[in-house]
Amino acid sequence: MKVTFKILRQKSNSTPQFQNYTIDVDPNNTILECLNKIKWELDGSLTFRKNCRNTICGSCAMRINGRSALACKENIAGELKIINPNGGENNIHEIVISPLNNLPVLKDLVVDMSNFWNDLETIEPYISSNSRNIPEKEFLQTPDQRKLLEQTGNCIMCGACYSECNAKEVNSHFVGPHALAKSYRLVTDSRDNNTEQRLEKYDSSDSGVWGCTRCYLCNEVCPMDVAPLDQISKVKSEILAKKDQNSSLPIRHRKVLINLVKKDGWIDERKFGVMVVGNYFRDVKGLLSIAPLGLHLLCAGKFPFNFEASEGVKEVRALIDAVQKDNSTMKN
Ligand code: FES
Repeated sequence: MKVTFKILRQKSNSTPQFQNYTIDVDPNNTILECLNKIKWELDGSLTFRKNCRNTICGSCAMRINGRSALACKENIAGELKIINPNGGENNIHEIVISPLNNLPVLKDLVVDMSNFWNDLETIEPYISSNSRNIPEKEFLQTPDQRKLLEQTGNCIMCGACYSECNAKEVNSHFVGPHALAKSYRLVTDSRDNNTEQRLEKYDSSDSGVWGCTRCYLCNEVCPMDVAPLDQISKVKSEILAKKDQNSSLPIRHRKVLINLVKKDGWIDERKFGVMVVGNYFRDVKGLLSIAPLGLHLLCAGKFPFNFEASEGVKEVRALIDAVQKDNSTMKN
């Protein structure tokens, strides 16, 4: 069958332009095999990264039909299903290929990964055993302790999550899902003795876990099922368990939200603003910052003077209790 590859090509600092290549392919061909064919038979100047061809090295991450993925993992059949589920063999299909987002392009599909590695370095991605006696041979772990590291240990640092990250797109200080998934691995590793300092470091609304917008795209695209957002949420839980609600606005936000929902089944937003932003009337600056919004709502007749608890408050409470109990059982 014939497929047209619409590839976004670009040299550093120049305007990107799509170039089309139509080739004969087999539905089982991987996208990487097709790119190789284009490079070897049609245009040797097309530039992309590859190495293992077997979803191990992470080199071939790029955007395929609008989402970040590994070119050696995705195949023609899977990609065409998205575009034309009923397409016959004689149709000409199209697959759009572009470089990863959130990283500057060097050439065509090759991006400069410097920021990605620098962000990873920020979280100190190595086991710290500074103040311990180093065993003669190795630190031993039980199978259960080791099991906690498996999911995050699968990360191949391909950059797919980083490319899709909405938080990274708007906040260059945010270290990215790859780094924060790794941070959970370090927090939970029984050989590391720096947990307290790590949690302090990751407890940041700018660069750390609270900078995540919880869009779930990192979970969606991760080719190794690392589920970065889930790992970020676990780090948040560790921080929430150690800090009280006066520690910071993000922590107060989570704690107040749970308390209000537990009390009434849903959020009384009048209280929410005063408790979170105004820190229970202690933060005058915070209160003044939400005053214009309150006034605006009042003038528009949208300020709620009454609040009634949800009819399902008992069920909501039971649900929250069950989740909290489940979380603490999993930790133990
Ligand atoms: Fe190594 Fe695709 S070439 S992951």
